[in-house]
Amino acid sequence: MTVDKKSLLNWVGGKRLLRKTIEPLIPNDIVSYIEPFGGGGWILFYKDKWADLEIYNDLDGRLVNLFRIVKYHPEALKEELRYLLGSREMFMQFIKMDGITDIQRAAKFLFLITRSFGGRGETYGTVKKSSGGASKSQGNILLKIDAIHKRLDKVLVENRDFEKLISQYDHAGAFFYCDPPYTFGCGYETTSTKDFDHERLREKLGNIEGRFLLSYDDSEKIRELYKGYEMIAVERLNGINNKQSGDRKNKMFKELLIANYPIRKAK
Ligand SMILES: C[S@@+](CC[C@H](N)C(=O)[O-])C[C@H]1O[C@@H](n2cnc3c(N)ncnc32)[C@H](O)[C@@H]1O
Repeated sequence: MTVDKKSLLNWVGGKRLLRKTIEPLIPNDIVSYIEPFGGGGWILFYKDKWADLEIYNDLDGRLVNLFRIVKYHPEALKEELRYLLGSREMFMQFIKMDGITDIQRAAKFLFLITRSFGGRGETYGTVKKSSGGASKSQGNILLKIDAIHKRLDKVLVENRDFEKLISQYDHAGAFFYCDPPYTFGCGYETTSTKDFDHERLREKLGNIEGRFLLSYDDSEKIRELYKGYEMIAVERLNGINNKQSGDRKNKMFKELLIANYPIRKAK
């Protein structure tokens, strides 16, 4: 089995299944590539380089700490992880424990996310039919750390609210791939659905000099909010456990891709 070195962790709302759809929609004349809602970084890491300047950002400090440690201290992180057992007992111990150093905190976070059900870090993720969740190879995780360490070499890792980040990096050659929380409950540590202000994002994106591509759930609210913008409706398999289910029809999830530049032609 080959190891997918274009990601480190599954993240709620991660765009693994939309990578191939999104990639051709991103213009190739951009000067900088910015992800204000970086999450697991599935789009950023999909290509070896999108632009000379690349920014990963997320408001969740645990993710940002992890990617900073992968960037600056990969060997120390691998040492922490090398001898951990993927056991239920260790998982339960880790849930209760606080790491002391940033490296330990990164190791704990990566361990819990990769060994949990649905990448939520809450329940030990046993599976019946595939080799995911708790049964993931520890060796493969170490290989991925090396690959993502290389990929992050020139990527700036930020930990800001999207509004400040967009203002900071906006200019005519800037490109923002935005993947905010959906309009229904996704439950991120940093934001409950109620707290995420979709209007504030719309307002900000309506006033930038650069270009943006936005992915969202296909809902009335979002269609209304972005009326007049370029829009494509796409479908993807719905995340958790889809490999184990034969019922494909019920597992499809509808998303919108929205942009302030022509994307239909590019498709
Ligand atoms: C749908 S996920 C991004 C998934 C990512 N594209 C991937 O492929 O893994 C949305 C992310 O937005 C982050 N977030 C929520 N509110 C934010 C805010 N105000 N500013 C920046 N990031 C925020 C969450 O922590 C979460 O990681």
